Amino acid sequence: MFKVNPYRPGAGLMPAYLAGRDEDIREMEQVFDALAMDVPTSSVIFSGLRGVGKTVLINKLQKIAEEKNIFCRHIEVEERNDFISQIATCSQAFLRKVSTKEKFKNLIQKPLDAIKALVISFDPNDNTFSLSMQERELYQSTNLTQSLMEVFTTIGETAYKSHTPICFFIDEIQYMKSKELGPLIAALHRTNQLGYPIMVVGAGLPKIYKMLSDEKSYSERLFLYKEIGSLTEGQSQKAIEIPVQKFGVTYTKEAIKRIISLTKGYPFFIQQFCQIVYKNITAKEIGLTDVEHSIDEFFRTLDVGFFKVRYERCANSDKKFVFAMVKCGELPCTISNIAKNLHKDVSAISTTRAQLIGKGIIYPIRYKELDFTVPEFDEYIRRLDEYHSWCEENPE
Ligand SMILES: Nc1ncnc2c1ncn2[C@@H]1O[C@H](COP(=O)(O)OP(=O)(O)OP(=O)(O)O)[C@@H](O)[C@H]1O
Ligand SMILES: [Mg+2]
Repeated sequence: MFKVNPYRPGAGLMPAYLAGRDEDIREMEQVFDALAMDVPTSSVIFSGLRGVGKTVLINKLQKIAEEKNIFCRHIEVEERNDFISQIATCSQAFLRKVSTKEKFKNLIQKPLDAIKALVISFDPNDNTFSLSMQERELYQSTNLTQSLMEVFTTIGETAYKSHTPICFFIDEIQYMKSKELGPLIAALHRTNQLGYPIMVVGAGLPKIYKMLSDEKSYSERLFLYKEIGSLTEGQSQKAIEIPVQKFGVTYTKEAIKRIISLTKGYPFFIQQFCQIVYKNITAKEIGLTDVEHSIDEFFRTLDVGFFKVRYERCANSDKKFVFAMVKCGELPCTISNIAKNLHKDVSAISTTRAQLIGKGIIYPIRYKELDFTVPEFDEYIRRLDEYHSWCEENPE
């Protein structure tokens, strides 16, 4: 018989119960209240490992902001990068919304011109605006910082005058190229100075802190940083139990304890594990044996999905680097130990290191240390035959 399964493992899938984020949500409600009252507000960045729930959190926050009549748009930055065209489209959508009110129609032209200049100059494949040669020259710019700042300050002014605050939600913000991230920070800085109600809520991997401060030193003061991580025991328990309550299904204490110890409170792992456990049970109470019976299937599912997609994005040189990291034993590990395991100099592995950071597989922590962005990735690597063959070929 078909059984409705309330667990939702998957990128950006809103869980039946969003556990442990109440405080972040409460704080953000206050931020949105301030924005809605035209009080200049810092932008906020949520960072955390793969699968901790950044996307679902910012999606939830977007709903809350929309209820407060803030104009919201979601942008997902992709590796192949089309940030400029996305921000232009979102800004245009904002102007469309404002222009529906007759009394604000006069606030449109300036920002529209700024968007036109941005698109024509920095998004050459776009055909939104058809212009004559002469007009094209008039709008052409070579400076992205100036151009983006112009868009932000003019839509910011329109937002202020029309009492329509703006919040852009930018997911996977770590994929933004440096040449775009710097101008975005500068543009937000300027609108903040001018007191316009426009902000960004970003989500990205932990390396985003460093990316932002490398780009502009003042970004540390411009953004509010919030790290989100795995759930505490109490929060994990709720994430496990609450989704099945309405079906009259319960877990024993031992079952819950075991799930928490295996998943370490990572939201994605909890959803994945509980989905399997729930699929396999026939009774209304889930006990320790039910959990034990599902462990193999849980790891198999992670190995062929969650872990494998990340692993397959690695080129051969990346894989060796990853193996050398795992061989260090403890994580985070130092770059010099990785180099030693690869029988190379530190300088010789810097390209691969940068490549893996760029792909979002690893991230730098503290001074010269690295870790995986994917929780439990080292255990997955240890389960691979390829890793063991490599270890044999590369003895101490
Ligand atoms: N607070 C939470 N409580 C319960 N489940 C959650 C919570 N947050 C996220 N999840 C679940 O975890 C999974 C991953 O969530 P999400 O895609 O938002 O993570 P992410 O941090 O954006 O990951 P990535 O870095 O890969 O984009 C989803 O299946 C979601 O339902
Ligand atoms: Mg995400």
